[in-house]
Amino acid sequence: MSQKITGVKGMNDLLPGEIEIWHHVERQARETFRRFGYQEIRTPIVEDTALFVRSVGEATDMVGKEMYTFRDKGDRSLTLRPEGTAPAVRAYIEHAIAQKEPVTHWFYIGPMFRYERMKTGRYRQFWQIGAEAIGVKEPAQEVELIDLVRQFLESLPLSGVMLNLNSLGDDQCRPKYIEALVGYFRAHEAELCADCRDRLNRNPLRILDCKNERCQQLAAASPSVLDSLCDPCRAHFDEVKRQLELLEIRYVVNPRIVRGIDYYTRTAFEFVAEHPALGTASTVGGGGRYDKLVKELGGPDVPAVGFGLGLDRLVLLLKESGRSFATHPLLFVATAEEGARDHALKLVSNLRRKGIAVETDPRGGSLKSQMKRADKSAATYTLVLGGNEVQTGTAKLKPMAGGEPVTVTLDDTLADQLKKLSPDA
Ligand code: HAM
Repeated sequence: MSQKITGVKGMNDLLPGEIEIWHHVERQARETFRRFGYQEIRTPIVEDTALFVRSVGEATDMVGKEMYTFRDKGDRSLTLRPEGTAPAVRAYIEHAIAQKEPVTHWFYIGPMFRYERMKTGRYRQFWQIGAEAIGVKEPAQEVELIDLVRQFLESLPLSGVMLNLNSLGDDQCRPKYIEALVGYFRAHEAELCADCRDRLNRNPLRILDCKNERCQQLAAASPSVLDSLCDPCRAHFDEVKRQLELLEIRYVVNPRIVRGIDYYTRTAFEFVAEHPALGTASTVGGGGRYDKLVKELGGPDVPAVGFGLGLDRLVLLLKESGRSFATHPLLFVATAEEGARDHALKLVSNLRRKGIAVETDPRGGSLKSQMKRADKSAATYTLVLGGNEVQTGTAKLKPMAGGEPVTVTLDDTLADQLKKLSPDA
């Protein structure tokens, strides 16, 4: 016997039964983006490796440990995208979007790849719903994005997701903070893990992302970034908070949020859902400002802010609600005798063309076996076509949930008759 080939570890198949939840989430996301005026982009799944090294940062876990990097046949170093911001910015620059519009509002839905240690809610191929707003330096931009996430979560609906907010300062005040951080960690250098001792020299902020228990304890007691903010950064942060309060968006200020990615400036935020279904993967989304990135990647000097939400994690939470997202056909057509098969074939095809969801059993077979499939399809009605129905041009619709059969005429008006019976179908 040949050996069975299985899917790649950490990469999931999404099958009927579950995919309906994904469709629901994606539909609500698209609908929310429509209301907010965000337009979809689709960038390739592979990019030049340098794009992520230069944007996400060399000393991050994402770049240092988690990227799927390979050489193609032309000996180029390519990487399966671990996140969506850098590709969006690359496309923004490449297509000279800044010359076409002062403000750009984009969204994307797609798979990302990170070679992470797997557990509930943490996969190696996972999906993100993300948005990037490029061109606006005002606090109203992050507030709009956060409001967008709030309205999207409400539409699912998902409650109990908490917004954690922080400011990481900018070029003016960040150095002062880093200095304080380095001073603090130097005093505890011997207690840090080997990676963090290295980070202390290369990128001390990244020590705050370390998953090592002792490093986390030390990080928890480290100086707060908020104590180092310069006046403009503080004013910006205060205005973000004021506008959130104006829109009645609840948040907690959490100075430990540093986001694990190098490109952030000023506002950084995370959406956290403490729920057993997520285990320790409780962050359903994160984002923030990245006012320097577009320029650093060779584009114009324009500010930007965005977020990414973990679609897999949202689906895990929705599954817990026990709600059904399945869709069912309005009608199942069965045939009582061989002679009715051609009539059924035409009837089903015409109804489908007119927008009615109809199922049938293409194998034909006994009426009993067809009715089994009808049950499984959970159609609202079944219609059994036999010689009598063909001859009289009328048939009875049997409601599968019980109740009186309804007589319909088998002509061009059948689709309308069905729509009248089930206006919501
Ligand atoms: P991130 O925090 O790295 O941010 O990822 C955003 C979200 O993706 C996380 O909050 C989480 O829900 C989900 N996620 C991340 N890794 C995994 C994984 N291995 N398995 C399942 N879900 C995962 C970014 O990627 C930024 N690009 C967000 C952003 C956009 N910032 C500005 N604009």
